Amino acid sequence: MPTTPTLAETKQRLERTGQQHLIAFWETLDDARREQLLGAIARLPLEHLGSMMSQAASLSKPAAADIRPVRPYLRTMADADKYRAIGDDLVRRGKVAAFIVAGGQGTRLGWKGPKGTFPATPVAGKPLFRVFAEQILAAERAYGVRIPWFVMTSEANHHETERFFEDNRWFGRPRGDTMLFVQGMLPSVSTAGAVLLDQAWEPAINPDGHGGSLKALRQAGALDHMSASGIEHLCYFQVDNPNVHVIDPLFLGLHVAAPDSSAEMSSKSVLKRDVTEKVGVFVKAPRLMVLEYSDAPREVSEARDPDGSITYGEGSIAIHVIGVDFIRKLTDHPLGSVLPWHRAIKKVPFVDPATGTRAEPAEPNAIKLESFVFDALAEAEGPIVLRTDRVEEFAPIKNATGEDSPATSRALQVERAVRWLREAGVRVPCHANGQPDCTVEISPLTARGPEDLRRNPPQKSIAAGSETLL
Ligand code: UTP
Repeated sequence: MPTTPTLAETKQRLERTGQQHLIAFWETLDDARREQLLGAIARLPLEHLGSMMSQAASLSKPAAADIRPVRPYLRTMADADKYRAIGDDLVRRGKVAAFIVAGGQGTRLGWKGPKGTFPATPVAGKPLFRVFAEQILAAERAYGVRIPWFVMTSEANHHETERFFEDNRWFGRPRGDTMLFVQGMLPSVSTAGAVLLDQAWEPAINPDGHGGSLKALRQAGALDHMSASGIEHLCYFQVDNPNVHVIDPLFLGLHVAAPDSSAEMSSKSVLKRDVTEKVGVFVKAPRLMVLEYSDAPREVSEARDPDGSITYGEGSIAIHVIGVDFIRKLTDHPLGSVLPWHRAIKKVPFVDPATGTRAEPAEPNAIKLESFVFDALAEAEGPIVLRTDRVEEFAPIKNATGEDSPATSRALQVERAVRWLREAGVRVPCHANGQPDCTVEISPLTARGPEDLRRNPPQKSIAAGSETLL
């Protein structure tokens, strides 16, 4: 392990990089805090901050004239069964692992613990991590294979996340089949370029974005582990979507065998609800990319085809399959990955180096740098998009109330469960307006889709007004 630089070495480095204020309170700190501060400064990429910030500031958006729509694959495509069988085979042969990014700060939801511990399901109130673990367990049983699960956390939530998995006995899966690792952090910087102090002995830092997951996989030794155990593809998903199909054979089959795919990276989309929905969309400009809602010129976000359909309607839902070799290629880079930096201007509390008082800014005062995993699409050869169904696969929990909240997610989870039950011939009571007159939840261990229910119907009908856990 490298030794912590001395005060003299640190001073020189801070002078060289214009960040001397980081040791403004040195004289007031005890030995333990001093050690902590030197260690924290040693981890900051001070020499690269200037170039990262200017790269982020100069990030260009594609011009409307250069943007073209994407033609996605559809779940209803003619030879879906052929690709599904290819995906099944891949899973059965142990070529696939699950990968969740759970290092975010979850500020909008405001839940006190890691977001994966949030009770998300409509009847049992199962935490998100349990929903995903049960899906993986169900797939392991169905395929007769072990499916490793990689879980990315951040410095801020790692220990709590680990404790949660431990307290839940790793959700009934062998301990060694879940690998937790921490993502990188970056300093939060004032608009003038000075690294902020969160405490007199601690620079303010933030996770480096879900794009940091690729570098973190490599640094944690996860890529070597995968190569050693024959894993070739990662099913990437976020912590906030309980309806995700973690292991989807059709998606995997298309990823490895569609004529225009080179199995580097593939993504799922859902059709935008309407032109004003604030969601990033897949476009070609000329390479496949996600055009964020805020970056989309109006003539793009509002464009319609002659038949009235939304021209740029393939909304990104942050579900990807990523090739392990592709991640290796992307992370062969001195700064850890080739992904571009984006900047967000946020409110970050800080200790004023002049006065020593800690301020809670009323207005955004700091730049946070992040990278986004979907930027890897532009680096991929032959990336493809599979359009899926919104209710079937997308019930995000982002905000405490309103859109994309626990309430809307629960409603979507119930809607999907009702749909599966009806498809399987189970009678579900409904109100005059067509809304289900019951709250149902289907455990991933009971069914992974309507086919499982059809094979093994749980009951003939659901009681009106009931809360039913299947
Ligand atoms: P979000 O964009 O929703 O961000 O993350 P967030 O930090 O979780 O939430 P807010 O914006 O503070 O409310 C999308 C997914 O990416 C993960 C999150 O955990 C979530 O699964 N993520 C995000 C990371 O793993 N690391 C990051 O640095 C950022």
